[in-house]
Amino acid sequence: MFKLSLLALTIGLSTAAIAAPQKNEPIQPIEPAVITQPAKVELGKQLFFDPRLSKSGFISCNSCHNLSMGGSDNLPSSIGHNWQEGPINSPTVLNSSLNLAQFWDGRAADLQEQAGGPIANPMEMGFTHDLAVGVLASIPQYVQSFKSIYKVEKITINEVTDAIAEFEKTLVTPNAPFDQWLKGDEKALSADALAGYKLFKEVGCVACHNGPAVGGNSFQKMGLIQAYETKNPAEGVAGLTGNDLDRFKFKVPTLRNVELTYPYFHDGAYWDLDDAVDVMARLQLGRQLEKEQISQITLFLKSLTGEQPSFAIPMLPPSTPQTPRPEPFAKVSQ
Ligand code: HEC
Ligand code: HEC
Repeated sequence: MFKLSLLALTIGLSTAAIAAPQKNEPIQPIEPAVITQPAKVELGKQLFFDPRLSKSGFISCNSCHNLSMGGSDNLPSSIGHNWQEGPINSPTVLNSSLNLAQFWDGRAADLQEQAGGPIANPMEMGFTHDLAVGVLASIPQYVQSFKSIYKVEKITINEVTDAIAEFEKTLVTPNAPFDQWLKGDEKALSADALAGYKLFKEVGCVACHNGPAVGGNSFQKMGLIQAYETKNPAEGVAGLTGNDLDRFKFKVPTLRNVELTYPYFHDGAYWDLDDAVDVMARLQLGRQLEKEQISQITLFLKSLTGEQPSFAIPMLPPSTPQTPRPEPFAKVSQ
């Protein structure tokens, strides 16, 4: 008798150990980062947080992609060098390694290419690559790190952007309630969130927002059925190709952690996720959703908030007498 129930218990256990098969859905779970080069990631993390890569010594990547705020700045458009307001909303850096290309219009092929942009952008960090590298070269601990990781005597922008990209690849957010549900935990989603997911598929959101990042893998027209009204002059992909068919085509943003990355759309015009869902349903799909349907979809979207990157804030090596001094912003005239 005892033996039998013990047997039953072992069988029970072993079936439980074989996890329920992952659901076959158009959205797949985010996998945790596998760090193969920890020293490079650590150096990239320092550079991501180091404001000395900007002319003013004031702006770091983290200023506009704040890792305490979902990798964004929660502003309609970012504030850059000399308090200039940038032309477009800053997308999150979280899960950006999953994007088919970088920027709203995809003009950078990958994270390394992207990382060179902001340092030399007069509206962002306002520096030059040579001057940024000069700052790093004046700081012995940085020189030592680059030497041991890249085997170089002289730092160039290539190693700088490579290390930043390697750090960014670790900024994934696995284990969201929705991922737990995908992996078989039926209790991970509320009934309303699940109803929201079903609607998300039925009304057609999933046609553009799919894959592990729930977006990031295609360029689509904003205002497919009904035009989007905005004062923002961004043209989307047409700004690159000059092709009128590409007007207002933007990279479909990831909806991972979208609860944290307000305000929404390339012009940052919508602060409320419910409103963004309503706009999408009308403009992209020609559907007027009921209030309750909208809040169910929003609940589903909130279940996409994953585990945020967590680490000790990196200590930055101190400047030396050889380090060029930062140049403060010009005075703002009132
Ligand atoms: C002044 C604010 C600002 C600073 C500083 C800044 N960024 Fe950005 N970042 C933006 C904006 C705005 C965009 C979108 C620009 C566009 O698409 O035209 C962007 C886009 C990106 C993207 C593309 C994400 C996507 O989904 O397409 C990545 C990755 C990124 N930045 C990383 C960085 C890194 C790394 C640094 C530091 C070297 C940095 N940024 C510094 C504002 C900033
Ligand atoms: C035809 C493709 C397409 C469809 C269908 C679609 N979207 Fe989008 N979605 C986009 C594009 C493109 C953007 C970026 C538009 C912009 O910023 O101007 C976007 C942006 C968003 C944003 C804002 C994200 C951010 O970070 O700014 C949300 C939220 C969103 N979509 C949710 C939905 C929901 C919910 C549905 C279904 C009701 C849906 N989308 C249907 C293409 C689509």
